[in-house]
Amino acid sequence: MAKILVVDDEKSIRLTFSAFLQKENYEVITAPDVESAISMCKEHKLDLVITDIVMPKLSGMDLLQEIYKQEPDVPVIIMTGEPTVDTAMTSVKNNAYDYLLKPVDKGLLMASVGRAIQYKKTHDEKVELERQNFIYQENLERLVMRRTDSLQKAMQATIATVASITELRDPYTAGHEKKVGNMAVAIAKKMKLSKSIVDSLYVAGYLHDIGKISIPAEILSKPGKLSKVEFDIIKTHVDYGYQILKKAKLPWDIADIVNQHHERVDGSGYPNGLSADQIRIESKILMVADVVEAMTSHRPYRIGLGLDKALEEIEQQKGVLYDTEVANITLDLFRNDGYTLEDEPKAISFHLD
Ligand SMILES: [Fe+2]
Ligand SMILES: [Fe+2]
Repeated sequence: MAKILVVDDEKSIRLTFSAFLQKENYEVITAPDVESAISMCKEHKLDLVITDIVMPKLSGMDLLQEIYKQEPDVPVIIMTGEPTVDTAMTSVKNNAYDYLLKPVDKGLLMASVGRAIQYKKTHDEKVELERQNFIYQENLERLVMRRTDSLQKAMQATIATVASITELRDPYTAGHEKKVGNMAVAIAKKMKLSKSIVDSLYVAGYLHDIGKISIPAEILSKPGKLSKVEFDIIKTHVDYGYQILKKAKLPWDIADIVNQHHERVDGSGYPNGLSADQIRIESKILMVADVVEAMTSHRPYRIGLGLDKALEEIEQQKGVLYDTEVANITLDLFRNDGYTLEDEPKAISFHLD
């Protein structure tokens, strides 16, 4: 039931208005002056205020201004026995909902009250809808964030699992994929490359030797020097990797990045003998991370050469086999930032559009 406050210093008007309005099923409270009306506005949740203008002490205009300050959504109908253009203008300026002349015609009063109550009802419904929409949006955002987080974790776990499968096939290179992926990410971050490149290097690093799944285990783990034929077979892992990853439809060009990780800046690499400008920046990073990790770790045919030897190789061959900037950043990463090889899968939140 809509609640209306009637403010008038004349008791007879308060009683008459109350009778009219209660008959129309409105809940009515009354106040004889502005001061008590102001405190009633604070105590009650009102839908409408009808007020006289001329009253002892504060006037209906003061009440109008006060209500607009405290409860701007509550409509106020002003009544006056002394209509002037000035009071009408002031009422409009102070946001009065309607302006009625005394003695107030019952029909006009009820019509004005009806419109004001409908206005307030529509306004309240709009506010409520906005509130519900806001809560819905917030819940939706939270839900999307939770789902995205679960998807990210699932994707990381899947990538790390695939990397482990490749490493299992070639036990001498345990941790190689993850160490290369983590290092490639660190290099790309230090080079301040885009988030998309960093993300792609995480995935490409973890999966770069996936093609080894197609190479006979005896060749992969053969102690001693490989024959030319055996080495040619090993080289095919980039093509197999490309074929496998091309079908995966990942959101980055992982297949191309992986396909170029054994290319070299001077064109001496494989499978296509690409040189400097033809090689993707991601692959230039990946190849350096790959060499550093491979030289540092043990291999079936030799013991690990150690990090210093690996960095020496990068330093000597920068600008020849390896991109100069990538090489310098990598050397700086290890020598000055104290970076260490890390095979624990790193948490990364992929930026997926
Ligand atoms: Fe490789
Ligand atoms: Fe590798």
